[in-house]
Amino acid sequence: MSHDIYPVLLKDTYINQEQYKELYQRSLEEPEGFWKEQAKKYITWFEPSEKVLQGGFDLLDVVWYAGGKLNASYNCLDRHLKTHADKIAIIWESDEGNSKKITYHDLHREVCQFANVLKKYGVKKGDRVCIYLPMIPEAVVAMLACARIGAIHSVVFGGFSAESLHTRINDADCRLVITANEGMRGGKKIPLKANVDTALVSCPQVQHVIVVKRTDNKIDWQKRDIWYHEAMQIVDADCEPEILDANDPLFILYTSGSTGKPKGILHGTGGYLVFAAMTHQLVFDYHPQDIYWCSADIGWITGHTYVVYGPLLNGATTVIFEGTPNFPSPSRFWEVIDKHQVSIFYTAPTALRALRQEGDDWVKKTKRTSLRVLGTVGEPINPEAWEWYYHVVGEDRCAIVDTWWQTETGGIMITPLPGATPLKPGSASWPFFGVEPKVVDDKGKEVADGQMGKLVITKPWPGMMQTIYNNRERFVETYFKEFPGMYLTGDQAYRDKEGYFWISGRSDDVIKVSGHRIGTEEVESALLCHPAVAESAVVGVPDHVKGQSIYAFVTLKTGYDNSDTLKKELIDTVRKEIGAIAIPQTIVFAKGLPKTRSGKIMRRILRQIANQEVDNLGDLSTLSDPQVVDDLIEQVKKLS
Ligand code: WTA
Repeated sequence: MSHDIYPVLLKDTYINQEQYKELYQRSLEEPEGFWKEQAKKYITWFEPSEKVLQGGFDLLDVVWYAGGKLNASYNCLDRHLKTHADKIAIIWESDEGNSKKITYHDLHREVCQFANVLKKYGVKKGDRVCIYLPMIPEAVVAMLACARIGAIHSVVFGGFSAESLHTRINDADCRLVITANEGMRGGKKIPLKANVDTALVSCPQVQHVIVVKRTDNKIDWQKRDIWYHEAMQIVDADCEPEILDANDPLFILYTSGSTGKPKGILHGTGGYLVFAAMTHQLVFDYHPQDIYWCSADIGWITGHTYVVYGPLLNGATTVIFEGTPNFPSPSRFWEVIDKHQVSIFYTAPTALRALRQEGDDWVKKTKRTSLRVLGTVGEPINPEAWEWYYHVVGEDRCAIVDTWWQTETGGIMITPLPGATPLKPGSASWPFFGVEPKVVDDKGKEVADGQMGKLVITKPWPGMMQTIYNNRERFVETYFKEFPGMYLTGDQAYRDKEGYFWISGRSDDVIKVSGHRIGTEEVESALLCHPAVAESAVVGVPDHVKGQSIYAFVTLKTGYDNSDTLKKELIDTVRKEIGAIAIPQTIVFAKGLPKTRSGKIMRRILRQIANQEVDNLGDLSTLSDPQVVDDLIEQVKKLS
């Protein structure tokens, strides 16, 4: 396979190509020494750790920085006050286009005050706190205030429905919820507080809801509700950070898996923070004068590591954007970049594909001269979108970093480094320091270069998850059972002869819609909540803007007929059960689904039918009723 290679553009970056090779080698050969140095360089410890890395993947007893003592909010705030208290920590750009700047000094004060509010309402070290907020500075305040007192935050994306919120609050047994009366996105109001009220109907353990006033609209008020601004007035601004162990949990973040309910991915403190700070600095070549903007929502891992923790640990100015890429016009991203002189910009391929479709003029009417590094995350970027980002947005003078990682990995794992990696459009390129990825076959044996296989990670790295909250068994089963001694990513990939990794997508039943991670089984369960649905099967199909879209096959119970009204009801059911991000693009009503004689649905066949790749469906003789296949092919043809 031959690919265009773009030479390294940037000079005077932290790492050049020789340095990358040398340091990467060292990070694998001498991990303890390497990670000890990074811990010292990036984090201020109250007490250093006695042992950098304990255990390994074979016994699944990995512990990073045992005995080390630190506090995340101290590292993000207090330690910067001596040298740059007046530096801007957060530039907030609202949906309506207003902005607000908050210095490190002010952010520190607000976090201390809010930590005192949490304490006042009974939150203690180890308690779980649910954060269901829009992209407003209070979201960062809430996260850091939890971290300050050793409470574990569980941020739930504001686009999730009341039902999803309910499941997450219950699973983590959260004690307190922080929300806003309403959110604003793309000019529309989102009823966050109303969703919390619905979610809490059967969550008696939640005794307090703290509400930020984002809009002027009135909302229903319960006895347990407290206004954020009122609570902040009656507490003082002194709050010593709790001294935490490196392995005390920092947060839970729910993400979708192949099967079952979303998993509460649990991250610790020490290892996660070292990895967040180091990757943020080196992958984006972050320097103190940069203005850094990651457009992800804090409801996702990208928002945790690269809107909040990474940049604040490094004392950066981080832009928090409440809006959407195309509101009020498809120039919004580029206008915000000019307005705040953003030099590093990190976004999702799906946004780039959507904006590219609107035409280059929306970009070209802006200047973008401040830009130096451009990043992408969340899904594979197709070379056409990459080239557009490089030539049109970056005008051939910016480094592009296509960063591969996961909620579970905590931080970036495979990525180019500006100034070090010649770029191949569409490839996440080389592993980050300390990360050893391999591509293996179904037996766990490494395959030859160029051959597609399963992507695994063979060595522990500091950012890795600790476990699945309250479900160690599922943690072991999902990630370590198929190939003992290796972490199974769930992705398919190949490595080329020059060591570049090419990630093609998931090898399991997780789909990525606009970069959002959705489990097919979750959508199937949601559809089953409608009384008409007997069975459903959901698969992902390629979508030229969203990456993938959701395709649902549904069989109805006797007595129900398919109709457009029913289709609409099914869509509403998914919106209610999960949220708008999980709505199927296509629903096919089927007489039956292809199943084996033992009753297992043959998703491979459904995937091929949905993609209209039906020339080679393989052996259908094992199906209990092969006739259903012809019927489905017919239905799908009619819809296209
Ligand atoms: C996919 C997002 C290709 C992948 C940080 C992974 C990517 C899943 C890339 C994790 C990339 C993420 N190239 N695929 N650069 N980045 N992915 O947990 O399938 O929301 O397993 O974390 O996104 O999604 P998650």
